[in-house]
Amino acid sequence: MIEKYINKIHQGDCIELFKRIPDNSVDVTFADPPFNLRKNYTSYGDSLEFQEYLDWCEKWISEMVRVTKPTGSIFLHNIPKWLTYYATYLNKFANFKHWISWDVPTTPMGKSLQPAHYGILFYTKEAKGSKLFELRHPHKRDRKQGYLWKDYGGKKDQLHPFGPLISDVWTDIHRIKHNTKRDTHPCQLPIHLMDRLILMTTNENDIILDPFSGTGTTAISAKRLGRKYIGFELDEMYVEISQQKLEQTEPNYKIGENWVSFYLNNIVTIRDNDWNHLAKYFSIPNPLRNIDFDRTKLIDKKLIPKEIDIAKDIFENEKKTTKKTSRINGKKMIKIEYP
Ligand SMILES: C[S@@+](CC[C@H](N)C(=O)[O-])C[C@H]1O[C@@H](n2cnc3c(N)ncnc32)[C@H](O)[C@@H]1O
Repeated sequence: MIEKYINKIHQGDCIELFKRIPDNSVDVTFADPPFNLRKNYTSYGDSLEFQEYLDWCEKWISEMVRVTKPTGSIFLHNIPKWLTYYATYLNKFANFKHWISWDVPTTPMGKSLQPAHYGILFYTKEAKGSKLFELRHPHKRDRKQGYLWKDYGGKKDQLHPFGPLISDVWTDIHRIKHNTKRDTHPCQLPIHLMDRLILMTTNENDIILDPFSGTGTTAISAKRLGRKYIGFELDEMYVEISQQKLEQTEPNYKIGENWVSFYLNNIVTIRDNDWNHLAKYFSIPNPLRNIDFDRTKLIDKKLIPKEIDIAKDIFENEKKTTKKTSRINGKKMIKIEYP
């Protein structure tokens, strides 16, 4: 029954669309909802009253728990303020694993500390038997000189040749700054952020569901890593952008038999278990202590897949669209009319 919803972005309200998804049927649910910060989405009024917003969030969070398999994981991305409420609610139904701190400058909230991270709440549906894999990222280096960022003193020859295990603080993934790399969406996530969550909690052919799909970041990450996806998205234009990008996406983020995450022609995340198979594709500093100034490099650059271009045709179409405002259930909606 789940089959007919797989590998599609469904246009509509997530609360309605969730009703079609059977209990315990997807491996991972990931949500990046509107943050209720008056963002300029094309078809959604992002400014509910405090309690109204939280009541709405509880509806789709409980649907996420319902559809996730007992071996599966649940991720919620938001600003810390909302995550504290999400966690209080989710603690009743799922098992807390981590608060991942994604180190990026965020929206100033007033005259206090400057917010510098988004949170990703990571829960498993059950306390035992969840699918989880340790990850590694490349060693952090000084950008100009290329030296290791951290001083490992006399222990350099004990370092892992690829890089350290990934912690719950992510400082190596930056927000999309270049307009050439982003779609016409105010909050598009970096795709290698999604790759990391997917590599950590799923295997090939597993199903990832995103109820706020936006311009399809989760779906594209899932497809290029050989996984299946289900996306829900209210906005017709974002659905169309996603579909165009998905058509261009191949399941090719792989070296040999192992799925890996690439970004801007570099490998940014691997699974720890895969290193034994991956090592033969890399030149490793010899002796290893030279890793201080010498990098572990992919030998054959042709193994790096080409990243897809953004949906330029959609941009052209968007310029010609007209927008009409109306109200549905008291919410301000902007209807986009295509030429
Ligand atoms: C923060 S954005 C998600 C961005 C996405 N992660 C990406 O990288 O493109 C939230 C998205 O939720 C959509 N949305 C808002 N309310 C919705 C609803 N009730 N059902 C489905 N989608 C909704 C908005 O149109 C917006 O695209």
